[in-house]
Formats: sequence, C-alpha cells, structure tokens
Amino acid sequence: MSAEMDIKTFYDNPLKKRGREAEHDAEDAAHFDAEALRFLNEEGESALIVDLREDRPPRHRAFWRELLDAPGKRILDVGCGYGYASTLLAMMGADVTAIDVSNGMCELTRLSAQVNGVEIDVRNLSAVDTGFPDGSFDIIVGQVSLHHLPLESAGEELARVLKPGGKAVFLEPIQPREWVFKLRANLPFVCHESPGGGALRLDEIEAIGKIFGDYEIKYFNITERLRRFKAIDWFSPVLYTTDSILLKIPGMTGFAASAVIIFTKTK
Ligand SMILES: C[S@@+](CC[C@H](N)C(=O)[O-])C[C@H]1O[C@@H](n2cnc3c(N)ncnc32)[C@H](O)[C@@H]1O
Repeated sequence: MSAEMDIKTFYDNPLKKRGREAEHDAEDAAHFDAEALRFLNEEGESALIVDLREDRPPRHRAFWRELLDAPGKRILDVGCGYGYASTLLAMMGADVTAIDVSNGMCELTRLSAQVNGVEIDVRNLSAVDTGFPDGSFDIIVGQVSLHHLPLESAGEELARVLKPGGKAVFLEPIQPREWVFKLRANLPFVCHESPGGGALRLDEIEAIGKIFGDYEIKYFNITERLRRFKAIDWFSPVLYTTDSILLKIPGMTGFAASAVIIFTKTK
C-alpha cells in the first residue's frame, strides 16, 4: 500500500480490524522506522529539544490542560514516536513508560529523554499486547497515535492496563461526517498517511468508549486547516478564534478535523 492512500482505505482501513494486528504492526513499524531515520538525517538531534515556551494551537493546549494532574502519576505514552509527549510529561514530574511498535521511534524517544535530561522507560511493544499487569497506569496518553492502532484489540489492552477510574487522553485527527470527508477527498489535496493510519470515525471512538466505559470528545480545527499554507501562518490567531465561534454552532462539530478524546475507565 502506498503512502498516498485511496479514499476507501483511508475511510475504512482494513488493517485496523481485529485479526490483522500482526500485518498492521509490521507495516507501521517499517514505515516509522524509515521516518525515524529520515528525521535523524534531515532534522537531527537538536530538533528533539523540547521548548516549553512554544506557542501551541488550541487543540494542543486543550490536550495538555487534561494532563495538568500528571506530576507524580504513572503514565503510559502509546505510540510515543519522536518522544515529545513522553519527554514533556517526564519534565512535569510524571513517571513515564513509552511504547512504540517502531524500534526506530523508540530510539528517538530515548534520544529525546537524553537531550532533555529526563528519565523515560521506553519499550518496543505493540499496544495490542503490552504484557503490563492489569491496572498498571494512572493515565494513558497518545498524541496522534490512537488512529494508528488496531482499534478493538488496542482498546481492550489499554483499558486493561489502566487503573479503575483512570483516564486515557488522546489528541487525534477525526472524520466526523462521511460526506464532509468524501468532499474533502475529492478536492485537489493529496492524502498523506502512513499505511496503518486513517482518521478516526465517530463510531470507532464510540466503540472504544464502550470498552473503557465513558468518553468525552472536544472538537477543534475547521478553518485551522488553512495553516497548511505556510504563507498565511501569521493569520493563525484569526483562524483559532473563527473555529472557537464556529464550533459553538450546533452541527458544526461535523466539520472538525481534530479532537481531544478523553476515555474514562468506569468498568
Ligand atoms: C503519527 S505517529 C505519532 C508519534 C508521536 N506520538 C507524536 O506525537 O509525534 C504514530 C506512532 O504510532 C506508532 N504505532 C503504530 N502502531 C502501533 C502499535 N500497534 N503499538 C504501538 N505503537 C504503534 C507508530 O510507530 C508511530 O510512532
């Protein structure tokens, strides 16, 4: 499968279904091993330095707001990738375990811990079978990683390793309305996705919510998508304000492209 996916595969990725976990993980591991190598060669170690003063878009701020209680907690970062979330959480004083199916990405997270002077327990594991004892973690986090996982099996495994009453917080690309997504897919933009990816549908979020017991979705990113055109980046504050107004209008969440999703283990 190419990195430029066809619309059907992006909308309903067969590799995320139960029974295809090994195939999915092998494809994602190969893709992200290559990405880790590219990152090191082209951007270098210094790109891993976490700048706490960095100005973040509203969806990132909302994600981090959910994690203000992180200090002192046992946290699992799923699909840790470049290690940004793990590193920032460790800097906040959390006890962080980071997992990724790509060994190359695990190496980047280890390097990130090193260059930022923090401790992170990094393991090359798949979220579908972690081997951690039941209820090992107070909080689970994932930054643009849940949509990469084989959802049903990973949902069950993550709910198992989370403590009762614990929360799992994700910042993810979403596709709330099929017709909006199809319209977008017919516009002249190329859909860049890794093989195992594909933005989350509402019914997928709902199914994972049932595994954990409860969930909440906070929607973001309607006009903010225009930031892809770097020439208008200076315009970002206007886009953020426009989105916050639009998202208060009933029905407009159907146009959101990102969400902060909070699952709570009530079962
Ligand atoms: C889009 S990247 C996000 C990385 C990182 N969280 C970030 O914010 O940049 C998705 C990550 O999920 C990882 N991944 C994919 N499938 C996985 C699985 N089954 N278990 C653990 N990690 C997985 C990939 O290797 C990749 O590093």
